[in-house]
Amino acid sequence: MELITATSVLCFLAISILIISVIKSFVSSKRTTLPLPPGTLGLPYIGETFQLYSQDPNVFFTQKQKKYGSIFKTHILGCPCVMISSPEAVKFVLTRSELFKPTFPASKEKILGKQALFFNQGDYHNKLRKIVLRAFSPDAIKFIVSDIETLAKHSLQSMEGRLINTYQEMKTFTFNVALLSIFGKDEILYREDLKRCYYILEKAYNSMPINLPGTLYHKSMKARKELAQILAQILSTRRQNKEEEHNDLLGSFMGEKEGLTDEQIADNIIGVIFAARDTTASVLTWILKYLGENPSVLEAVTEEQRSILKGKDENSGSLSWGDTKKMPITTRVIQETLRVASILSFTFREAVEDVQYEGYLIPKGWKVLPLFRNIHHSPDFFPEPEKFDPARFKVAPKPNTYMPFGNGVHSCPGNELAKLEMLVLLHHITTKYRWCVEGDQNGIQYGPFALPQNGLPITLHKQ
Ligand code: HEM
Repeated sequence: MELITATSVLCFLAISILIISVIKSFVSSKRTTLPLPPGTLGLPYIGETFQLYSQDPNVFFTQKQKKYGSIFKTHILGCPCVMISSPEAVKFVLTRSELFKPTFPASKEKILGKQALFFNQGDYHNKLRKIVLRAFSPDAIKFIVSDIETLAKHSLQSMEGRLINTYQEMKTFTFNVALLSIFGKDEILYREDLKRCYYILEKAYNSMPINLPGTLYHKSMKARKELAQILAQILSTRRQNKEEEHNDLLGSFMGEKEGLTDEQIADNIIGVIFAARDTTASVLTWILKYLGENPSVLEAVTEEQRSILKGKDENSGSLSWGDTKKMPITTRVIQETLRVASILSFTFREAVEDVQYEGYLIPKGWKVLPLFRNIHHSPDFFPEPEKFDPARFKVAPKPNTYMPFGNGVHSCPGNELAKLEMLVLLHHITTKYRWCVEGDQNGIQYGPFALPQNGLPITLHKQ
């Protein structure tokens, strides 16, 4: 009896091994038979980097898409890449996190801290993401509306009557909002020190990672150390005053059950400031540009915002969370700006194994770039795509055609906060101020996000 059982186990194993090897050889023969996506790889190592960066990158993406379709190969910055621009393919890449992982140059990981949310996958990423999503959920941020309002009013007052670089001023506002959401009321105590260090740190974001005295990178790493010391001091003060409750991001990170190390907390705080500041500031800059060019839209927004003021005492009345939900016209202006400007034209992933998609092979280790901007500017999904027309958002876009905040497990956890701070600033600027754009303003610069030329110089004056 035992002999029969042993023989049948052996037979079963042999058949299983045979089936597995047949499947394996089928898969590997598939690998060799499946073609790479169409496209060209350019010169050895250099690839097509010059073609991409010697012009507006979007021209490169659009020309390639016209020639090869919505999935094509190229070679940039020393890496073979597949670029994709169909809604289905982008959804596939961004939501199949077991096949595609985020990827950044090592120097960026060192500057921001390798334990920050966006560099990670799996259990650690899930745990962090839950904390960050909770801290930036509507239920959490609705309590800071009036504090954001105070920051918006101060920012606008400080810009009054001056020729300003809109982007730089908006960066100050969005930096302060980011600190408020991270440190709550404590932010004011540390604002200037944190700002000084962060502004040095970020200068090396696009520089070569050469850590020698005198280089930008070296200064940046020193500033990072100092930032970590300030954060350690904040953590220590909070630990001493245990009885105080904190409903901010730092409070959530410090929650006992979260079990994060001080280093993990520091990396994620620096990471959130990085993700929150320039993105939102750049969108606000584009909004002021588009409102300036479209007086009827500016009037409609102003009217909507004035109607919110009705019945409020002009001096003491402040915005509530409920008020921000009664701003459909302003909300559509934000949505349309996110589409037209598409400040993040694309993102990066890397194939963690050979992937077959639509009859093509995406080899393991290749970078994959979902091209958000191509989708947002496709006439198939957005008629007259270059036109700024907020009314188009009266009808919801087709699924997966509108992704200003990404998609899948790495999509933006700060999107509610970004929308809230933009609504609050727009409320005050449209009801109390007007602005004139100085100089010719048709160019776009990348820094790294798409921006109006020279950060949109304007003069702001009281109405
Ligand atoms: C209008 C402003 C913003 C835009 C357009 C934006 C856009 C995005 C996009 C497209 C991604 C996904 C990138 C990818 O998949 O590779 C992302 C991720 C992220 N964003 Fe935002 N973002 C904005 C504001 C914010 C703010 C205000 C915060 C924080 C308060 C924030 C925090 C983050 C974080 C932490 C991630 C990484 C998430 C992860 O890897 O799990 N963002 N953002």
